[in-house]
Amino acid sequence: MNRIAMPHIRFRQFCALPATLAAALALVACQPGAPEAAGEPPLAGADIGGPFELVNKDGETVRWADFDGQYRMVYFGFTYCPDICPTDVQRMIQGYKKLAETQPEAAAKIQPIFISVDPERDTPEIVGEFASAFSDDLIGLTGTPEQVKAAADNFRVFYSRGEDTPGGGYLMDHSAIVYLFGPDGEPLATLPTDQGGDAVAAELAKWVS
Ligand code: NI
Repeated sequence: MNRIAMPHIRFRQFCALPATLAAALALVACQPGAPEAAGEPPLAGADIGGPFELVNKDGETVRWADFDGQYRMVYFGFTYCPDICPTDVQRMIQGYKKLAETQPEAAAKIQPIFISVDPERDTPEIVGEFASAFSDDLIGLTGTPEQVKAAADNFRVFYSRGEDTPGGGYLMDHSAIVYLFGPDGEPLATLPTDQGGDAVAAELAKWVS
């Protein structure tokens, strides 16, 4: 079994973590006393990511393998999220744009991706509008509930319907993590959106070459 260090997993507001998932994550949590080899990405060897079939803003099928050869930043959330998702996506894109200013060739190798965990409300059109509000480069994906569930499972993302909100809406509980993957779809690192766009850009610069 590969040694896995996963220092930045955060479950934030709106996230109720079932005991089974908590146990699963504990298995891949930091292992004290296990020094990382120099240059080893924190998520090297982690079983995160994998094949999916989802739908883009035009209703076209998009597969994980379509991004082969590109680095990918991946975030799962929902477009009706009042605060966490827009903030995370904004900082992820800030980091991407900051990298583009200083290292345009590196940034050009990265594909930012937003995947909805709320397929009931996030139609292709809505997810497309949400994504384009942050960047023309950000691809928004949704799908059937089954497609979304399969993708989230592969990416170790938890989500479930949360509290009802006034006016007939509802929140989604979900894990809020931006993953960085390499050109073969291999997980490299999580991106520190909680520390702002500069920190995201620095982490991207560390792993994208
Ligand atoms: Ni959210």
